[in-house]
Amino acid sequence: MENKKVLVTGGAGFIGSNLVKHLIATNNSVTVLDNFISGYRSNLDFFPEVHIVDGDVRDKNAVEEAMHGAEVVFHLAASVGNKRSIDHPILDAEINVIGTLQVLEAARKNGVRKIVTSSSAGIFGELKTIPIKEDHPIEPDSPYGCTKLCEEKLCLSYAKLYALEAVCLRYFNVYGPNQRFDAYGNVIPIFVFKMIRNEPIIIFGDGEQTRDFVHVDDVVQANIKAADSIGINGAFNIASGKRVTINRLVEMITKGDLNKIKIEHGPERAGDVRHSLADLTLAFENIKYSPTVDLEAGIDQYVSWARNAI
Ligand SMILES: NC(=O)c1ccc[n+]([C@@H]2O[C@H](COP(=O)([O-])OP(=O)(O)OC[C@H]3O[C@@H](n4cnc5c(N)ncnc54)[C@H](O)[C@@H]3O)[C@@H](O)[C@H]2O)c1
Repeated sequence: MENKKVLVTGGAGFIGSNLVKHLIATNNSVTVLDNFISGYRSNLDFFPEVHIVDGDVRDKNAVEEAMHGAEVVFHLAASVGNKRSIDHPILDAEINVIGTLQVLEAARKNGVRKIVTSSSAGIFGELKTIPIKEDHPIEPDSPYGCTKLCEEKLCLSYAKLYALEAVCLRYFNVYGPNQRFDAYGNVIPIFVFKMIRNEPIIIFGDGEQTRDFVHVDDVVQANIKAADSIGINGAFNIASGKRVTINRLVEMITKGDLNKIKIEHGPERAGDVRHSLADLTLAFENIKYSPTVDLEAGIDQYVSWARNAI
């Protein structure tokens, strides 16, 4: 995708800012709508050409201002994560459901060609079979999983009603630069930042549970390919298609020197899935998505980034 006018909601966040970087590098004209609740203004410091609308996706006027002239919308602004949604379920629904509707309404009124929305593997809930295909039972076990599913369904229903195509990308565990450590952080930032700060990490259970980690560059690739696709509507898994145990992940982070990190063991966490692995067949067939980043190389890059970010 080149020389297009695009809107990125949540463009100051972890994934959004990586997407903005790519969009600017490929000569697109980019507007970001963000209220900086979990994103960082500094993530956009290197891109002075980005037009920033400091506003909320729930605010009709702010969304309409940001939407002006856009051909493609990447909708990433969200209340993110299971734990946050359990702590703040009403806010989660207001941002992820009403906010998405505001974006869809403004998009259809402005004649946007395509919306690419950021969904989550969290919609599946307890995993029954692996690898997980898109038609795996969908039984979300948190408000976040429910609102992300609602977001998908809203986008796909607008694609049926209006001349607005919609692709929903179901990310598995995303990691990479600009992913900071916070109370709602994912396992890779938690482990890496704790290693750097010389603080103990906790492995829940025996550490032999597996996850499918996908580098943010591949998530950016998926967004661009989804935006470029013509006549495609649907929801697709976005992951690496490989799984790794938490114990192996710790080896990668420490480069095999477990003295670098203090490990404590805790009981298995209720609600945690044992294994996770995406089937990527549909993503390849529909948008030609194919992951490229090797986990070990991606972890090395992330550790270097985190050392400078701390
Ligand atoms: N990181 C992952 O592993 C992962 C996995 C699955 C899905 N996702 C989805 O990807 C998207 C991006 O997630 P992320 O990891 O970059 O999170 P993030 O918190 O870094 O980014 C979210 C961005 O949205 C902005 N935002 C939040 N509420 C807003 C509001 N009401 N109005 C305007 N802006 C608002 C935040 O300030 C932030 O910049 C989200 O939709 C999330 O649900 C992420």
